[in-house]
Amino acid sequence: DKGGWSSFMAKEISEEPEAVAKTIIGRVEDGLVRIPELEGLDADTLRDIDRVVVIACGTAAYAGMVGKYAIEQWARVPVDVELAHEFRYREPVLTERTLVVSISQSGETMDTLMAVKYAREQGARTLSICNTQGATIPRESDAVVYTHAGPEVAVASTKAFVAQITAMYLFGIQLGQVRGTLDDSRARGLVRELQAVPDKLASVLASGERIREMAKWMADTQSVLFLGRHVGYPVALEGALKLKELAYIHAEGFAAGELKHGPIALIEPGQIVFVIVPSPRDPNSLHAKVVSNIQEIRARGARVIAIAEQGDAAVLPHADEVIRIPLASPFFEPLLAVVPLHIFGMELAAAKGLDVDQPRNLAKSVTVE
Ligand code: F6R
Repeated sequence: DKGGWSSFMAKEISEEPEAVAKTIIGRVEDGLVRIPELEGLDADTLRDIDRVVVIACGTAAYAGMVGKYAIEQWARVPVDVELAHEFRYREPVLTERTLVVSISQSGETMDTLMAVKYAREQGARTLSICNTQGATIPRESDAVVYTHAGPEVAVASTKAFVAQITAMYLFGIQLGQVRGTLDDSRARGLVRELQAVPDKLASVLASGERIREMAKWMADTQSVLFLGRHVGYPVALEGALKLKELAYIHAEGFAAGELKHGPIALIEPGQIVFVIVPSPRDPNSLHAKVVSNIQEIRARGARVIAIAEQGDAAVLPHADEVIRIPLASPFFEPLLAVVPLHIFGMELAAAKGLDVDQPRNLAKSVTVE
């Protein structure tokens, strides 16, 4: 039931705030993270692991990339993210101190399932982050943290993505608490930031109408690029994947720092480039670097659509359009910045008269290798 929405995808995007909120519920106690379902992996095990390997496909893998930045920062454990279908066929090095975290909305993706089975055979610990109760991947894992995004019907994943990041963040905070790399006051601060995301997301949804107007003038476009840095990089990849699968437009996401190593040659007058701009308060000063990237591509005629924090005036002289997101500290920006890109993918497909819920050649869950 589309509940009055024009598509399941529109309904599911509108549920992104709720997907985050419901994934947090029951996992915070006295301001700190306590995920009851992690019991299959007790505190000793969590203290003992020396590496995390995230395996997933598509959008779920991008959620894993966002999680990598956070878990490394908060729990000081090395994290690798691998596409499940690449992982299994190259004899990866795994030990009983490796924690393999799989991320899957359906819990039935064959590539991911086979990678989890392989990891178990090698003696690694396995944690499943999954949106579907009782699915095969969680049943094959030592522990499962469900994302509570609710059923996702549209083929393109949206609300599951923000719920997956939320689950990875909860896990990363708990890991930091257990391993002593996050003291209570820092952990509490992160929890508060996460809890503030749903309200902020609700205000991002209000930009939908403007994005629809933009999508209309872009309907004939042949190629769109997306740039981001740090946790904004996987968001750029996610924005590009949505355009490919929904609007059948050639799209690519790049880490903005990579521009000068090749992709800037693609920029010609009229090229549309979405740029996810880090907050001006970013401790790594990535904001200035990304603003200078914008200047470089603008000087070559690109049309720049910036996704930038409220009040960030530095982007104004350089961008053709600015979509605003509420203030948040760097790790919480991807949860906000991705929503305009989800809306954009959907609206561009709609502007081209395409079926946004059921793109050609795709199935909701890929149960073959
Ligand atoms: C993109 C999309 C796919 C899935 C991927 C993994 O919008 O939906 O890339 O994310 O097929 O699916 P799950 O999460 O079910 O394992």
